[in-house]
Amino acid sequence: MNSLSLAGPQNLHGAAAVKFSPSRTQPTPKFSPFTVNMSLQKDAPSIAVVGVTGAVGQEFLSVLSDRNFPYSSIKMLASKRSAGKKFTFEGVEYVVEELTEDSFSGVDIALFSAGGGISKKLGPIAAKCGTVVVDNSSAFRMDENVPLVIPEVNPEAMRDIKLGKGAIIANPNCSTIICLMAVTPLHKRAKVLRMVVSTYQAASGAGAAAMDELVQQTREVLEGKQPTCNIFKRQYAFNLFSHNAPVLSNGYNEEEMKLVKETRKIWNDTDIKVTATCIRVPVMRAHAESINLQFENPLDEDTAREILKNAPGVVIIDDRASNNFPTPLEVSNKDAVAVGRIRRDVSQEGNYGLDIFVCGDQIRKGAALNAVQIAELLL
Ligand SMILES: NC(=O)c1ccc[n+]([C@@H]2O[C@H](COP(=O)([O-])OP(=O)(O)OC[C@H]3O[C@@H](n4cnc5c(N)ncnc54)[C@H](OP(=O)(O)O)[C@@H]3O)[C@@H](O)[C@H]2O)c1
Repeated sequence: MNSLSLAGPQNLHGAAAVKFSPSRTQPTPKFSPFTVNMSLQKDAPSIAVVGVTGAVGQEFLSVLSDRNFPYSSIKMLASKRSAGKKFTFEGVEYVVEELTEDSFSGVDIALFSAGGGISKKLGPIAAKCGTVVVDNSSAFRMDENVPLVIPEVNPEAMRDIKLGKGAIIANPNCSTIICLMAVTPLHKRAKVLRMVVSTYQAASGAGAAAMDELVQQTREVLEGKQPTCNIFKRQYAFNLFSHNAPVLSNGYNEEEMKLVKETRKIWNDTDIKVTATCIRVPVMRAHAESINLQFENPLDEDTAREILKNAPGVVIIDDRASNNFPTPLEVSNKDAVAVGRIRRDVSQEGNYGLDIFVCGDQIRKGAALNAVQIAELLL
């Protein structure tokens, strides 16, 4: 059985390579100025990180560094508010530049995480400049001309995209990535007919400011003060609530419908039945999901465990004797998605149903890592 080593106390934004706001965490450059930088190479692609000061932007840097992603240059882009801020990444000092329409000249790969509006406006402009955009927002996910890619699941969807020819590739929603990392290997064996997903989503999914607010509210509530409610407009500490995404006319919120629609697109299966309930819980980092599956073909739990044991990017934490199963803390700052509570669904006849519980760091595999893995497929 694979297992993750225990994470320490949850830090605010995890193991990002640099930090900007002193109110969040102090700068913690991973490399000293004397580190030999193996990633900076003359013939490698030039990169831009759009939204570099945000939760996902920070994680991009951490992942690029961890994976020795080769680059010849890297542009750090954010809003006017951050322009001029300086920081050290891999021993080199960078100045954050204001993102504009002219930011993409000579950029081979742009990792976007500055919100859907920015992606919609500047993604196509970047692609026109010859840049391959890997976009973390929902702006292009359901565009039929834009591949929606989880490298372990459907790398073939981006086979026509080549470095040097501008294009947009969409990163799926974090809940979808975490879910499909675990479910796709089972689907390939037994074909999922119906999937019921209930999520327990962390503050980090709503960005750096939401993480800050959860800390602030927790302190305020413990001190008997009124909690500050700027991001979610309600008490988050010591509470949970339906996901803050807008609620649609069918009663589902947008986050839930992303799970439905994106699964169909990624699996290229319009018949797959998916329903979801998405809940925001006061966890700092990493999402959890309870997933109920109904299969076309029988799949017993031992076979499912064996399949998941060999699935790329997945680890099993499923120790019934000591009641030890995946937790958000344990997967925080980790690449792998953890699966446990693997059991036959007693409400279904025979071996046609399974329940599983999944945890994944949604800033990492749910966003930055997945995007960098997409970029690696371009090399
Ligand atoms: N957090 C997650 O787990 C997650 C997962 C998947 C996808 N995403 C998506 O990734 C995107 C960013 O999320 P986040 O959580 O990183 O948010 P965040 O922490 O709030 O960061 C937002 C980033 O966007 C930049 N930005 C905002 N307005 C801008 C503008 N007008 N021009 C240029 N840059 C601008 C910000 O720069 P300043 O600091 O200068 O304001 C900051 O770098 C969103 O589309 C989100 O849906 C997030």
